[in-house]
Amino acid sequence: MLHIVIAETELELVPERLHKDTVITASAERSGNEPRHMLLESTHHHRATWKLDDGRRRGRPDILHFCLVTALHSVANSKDHLRLHVHTRHDKVISINRYTRIPKDYNRFAGLMRQLLIEGAVPPQQPLLELADMTLDELLEREKPSKVFILSKKGKRMSPRVLGRQLAKEKRPIVVIGGFPHGEFDRKHRDEENVISIYDSGLPAWTVLSTVLHAYEDAKGLFTGKS
Ligand SMILES: C[S@@+](CC[C@H](N)C(=O)[O-])C[C@H]1O[C@@H](n2cnc3c(N)ncnc32)[C@H](O)[C@@H]1O
Repeated sequence: MLHIVIAETELELVPERLHKDTVITASAERSGNEPRHMLLESTHHHRATWKLDDGRRRGRPDILHFCLVTALHSVANSKDHLRLHVHTRHDKVISINRYTRIPKDYNRFAGLMRQLLIEGAVPPQQPLLELADMTLDELLEREKPSKVFILSKKGKRMSPRVLGRQLAKEKRPIVVIGGFPHGEFDRKHRDEENVISIYDSGLPAWTVLSTVLHAYEDAKGLFTGKS
């Protein structure tokens, strides 16, 4: 079973510091929501977002949207070879039921994430998405991986095919992909973790995710019906 963590994802409600910012109050009025119940979205709030620490990379739920749609519609997920976890910049972890139907429409997805961050679970009666307070280290500890693979353009170069074979050999590998648009992981990598680069320059998170998933599916023979 392959575990993938989308880590340090830029998914958050508008932080208190911006609740009275005019960009945010205007957006709140348009949407009919209170500032504290709005998703931080750099497309709509970039002049406010840039006032925050790390402002250039914050407010990017769209990255998570692409990643979830890609992963949940994969062959690995449909054949029950994949567990997906999301970790956010504020150390929240989202557990995702593999049958979750993530809306393909971005606005509906944003509404769902807003509800999840406010209520902690969606849908409330029989949750498919659940939120918990947890650091990335705590998540990795909880999942007890046989090996951790951190994906970074600064890592040791390995072809996706070789990586796919290594993942397929492991009992419980975890692949960590950054869910942010710029910069490096905040968390320092541990000595026992493999830091792997699959390409000579930086790629969007969803391209890395789909490449890794396909390499794993290929190595496992999932397209030929072996497993
Ligand atoms: C848009 S990137 C983050 C920016 C980062 N400076 C970069 O360009 O790699 C999002 C994530 O995709 C993964 N990634 C991007 N390029 C990669 C590469 N060449 N090899 C392995 N992983 C990569 C990393 O996990 C990274 O955190």
